[in-house]
Amino acid sequence: MKDTVNEINQVLKYASAEEVLVYFLQRHKDKLALSSSLGAEDQVLTDMLLKLNENARVFTLDTGRLHPETYELMDATNHKYKIKMDVYFPQSQKVEELYQSQGINGHYESLDKRKHCCFIRKIEPLRRALKGVDIWITGLRSEQSVTRTQMPLLEYDEGFNLIKVNPLINWSQNDVWDYIKKNDVPYNKLHDLGFPSIGCAPCTRAVKDNEDLRSGRWWWESPEQKECGLHKKNKEKR
Ligand code: ADX
Ligand code: SF4
Repeated sequence: MKDTVNEINQVLKYASAEEVLVYFLQRHKDKLALSSSLGAEDQVLTDMLLKLNENARVFTLDTGRLHPETYELMDATNHKYKIKMDVYFPQSQKVEELYQSQGINGHYESLDKRKHCCFIRKIEPLRRALKGVDIWITGLRSEQSVTRTQMPLLEYDEGFNLIKVNPLINWSQNDVWDYIKKNDVPYNKLHDLGFPSIGCAPCTRAVKDNEDLRSGRWWWESPEQKECGLHKKNKEKR
């Protein structure tokens, strides 16, 4: 699989994001899925993908702790594209156990507790969402953080045994917003209130103009720790 990934990386080296999507739609349409947090990048990809194929699969992980604005956008997106994106929720019993073991906001108390919450609310549902998927499309961009600078266009993800494709990996923030404006793509109102990156409500805050794009995510942790586990190094088993 690694050889295949290297070959495709070469073939698609100079391809546009649309061309990358076309390449995989032509070969793996029924085994391809876009994971969307409803962030700006994911909205770009949702627009592109659904224009190319109205039946392409888009899913989101509803952690139960999202902002009201994110739910509004989910609704607006479903309406605009006439879809019902797949939504994966955490297992209710696991959330109850999480509450029993670390309270409702235990994630502020230690890295372990934060990761435990992310595991129950995001990683386990992601595992279910990716069952049967060969091509996992994400909205990752290399300039988003120190943990993402080395990410390639595509990589073999050993943990999930699939090819992870990041069509916007080389896009700048301006590229993203140009696309959104030009194509009238619906976006999260929080972006206009100083939130460049949006996750769960208790773990996301607005940033100042001179601050890092992801500095409002898990702001109490150091930049090297700011991953919830969705995008761990591809060798690590999740
Ligand atoms: S995170 O790992 O820190 O939460 P980020 O918000 O930057 O990630 O999003 C990066 C990519 O991860 C998104 O483009 C999307 O593909 C995926 N992703 C993140 N959060 C979710 C979510 N709640 N549901 C589905 N996909 C998500
Ligand atoms: Fe829990 Fe925060 Fe992770 Fe959301 S981002 S799953 S609230 S720790």
